[in-house]
Amino acid sequence: MRTVLVTGGTGTTGRRVAAFLRTRGVKVRTASRHPVAGDDQHVIFDWADPGTFAAAVDGVDRVFLVAPLSDSDPASAVGGFLDTAVAAGTRRVALLSASAVTDGPSGLGALPPLVRARVPEVAVLRPSWFMQNFVGNHPIAVGIRERGRITTATGRGRVAFIDPDDIAAVAGQLLFGESIPDGELILTGPQALSYDEAATMVGEVTGTPVHHTSITAGELTAAIEAGGVPHDYARVLAGMDEEIAGGSEERITTTVRDVTGRAPRSFRDFLIDAHRTHPAHSAHPARAVA
Ligand SMILES: NC(=O)c1ccc[n+]([C@@H]2O[C@H](COP(=O)([O-])OP(=O)(O)OC[C@H]3O[C@@H](n4cnc5c(N)ncnc54)[C@H](OP(=O)(O)O)[C@@H]3O)[C@@H](O)[C@H]2O)c1
Repeated sequence: MRTVLVTGGTGTTGRRVAAFLRTRGVKVRTASRHPVAGDDQHVIFDWADPGTFAAAVDGVDRVFLVAPLSDSDPASAVGGFLDTAVAAGTRRVALLSASAVTDGPSGLGALPPLVRARVPEVAVLRPSWFMQNFVGNHPIAVGIRERGRITTATGRGRVAFIDPDDIAAVAGQLLFGESIPDGELILTGPQALSYDEAATMVGEVTGTPVHHTSITAGELTAAIEAGGVPHDYARVLAGMDEEIAGGSEERITTTVRDVTGRAPRSFRDFLIDAHRTHPAHSAHPARAVA
């Protein structure tokens, strides 16, 4: 029986990929730094500790790979992990990258070429920005809840936000199926929205107004850094906002439909669902409309 390792297995995408595969009868092992109570299929795994790699990949055929977070140069940790995984029998990797990342010699862009060079079957998923950033603990969601405000450096640029359930459905299908498609897998939602438009939609769904303020990339770098993110990575994130301002995230692709056979969820439907199931997560509890 096939075993799939899901790194970042308790995170936004990883836990959805694990759930997708389990409902199809695939044996799934999730991996992250912290234990999951009552789950004996979860292993302790830390990108900063290569001593945790071997147990995680033991008997694993396929891997969903979420690279080290907040690391502007994750290639050395990922390279060591891939060597261990391939030696243990891993043949396919679905790498979670991002539409904002292009292949290059260093940084996040170094990962797709690295994985392709070491693993026989590789799918690089390049999702647009997550709808999930507007709920839960992401800084955008926190800004909405605490101040009724979204702050970016995106200007009037538009983003084709995607539901993480759709990313997981694509990743799960690629890790479950017999073959993987050639070419780039750029994953988007069905509609490109500016943050002004997204803020208005959040206000309409939650019943409380939300505003968007666009600041400079330098100001955003300082703000992200003040939240505890290392300077280099804060600059990378703010630089992505500058790219959005220039129109880099406006494209809409058919990849979700092509791979899963169904249309991706719209931002409005995502928000309605999130507000219905977790109203305190999608708006300030004191201001949320019941
Ligand atoms: N947010 C967006 O809009 C967006 C858009 C495109 C692409 N992406 C990409 O999505 C990725 C993040 O995925 P996500 O949102 O699913 O993750 P997430 O929700 O932030 O969760 C991170 C997961 O990784 C684990 N983790 C964190 N540090 C770790 C470490 N040192 N070693 C091992 N595991 C560790 C966490 O569990 P523990 O804490 O237990 O370790 C958790 O399971 C990033 O690579 C980002 O570039 C995000």
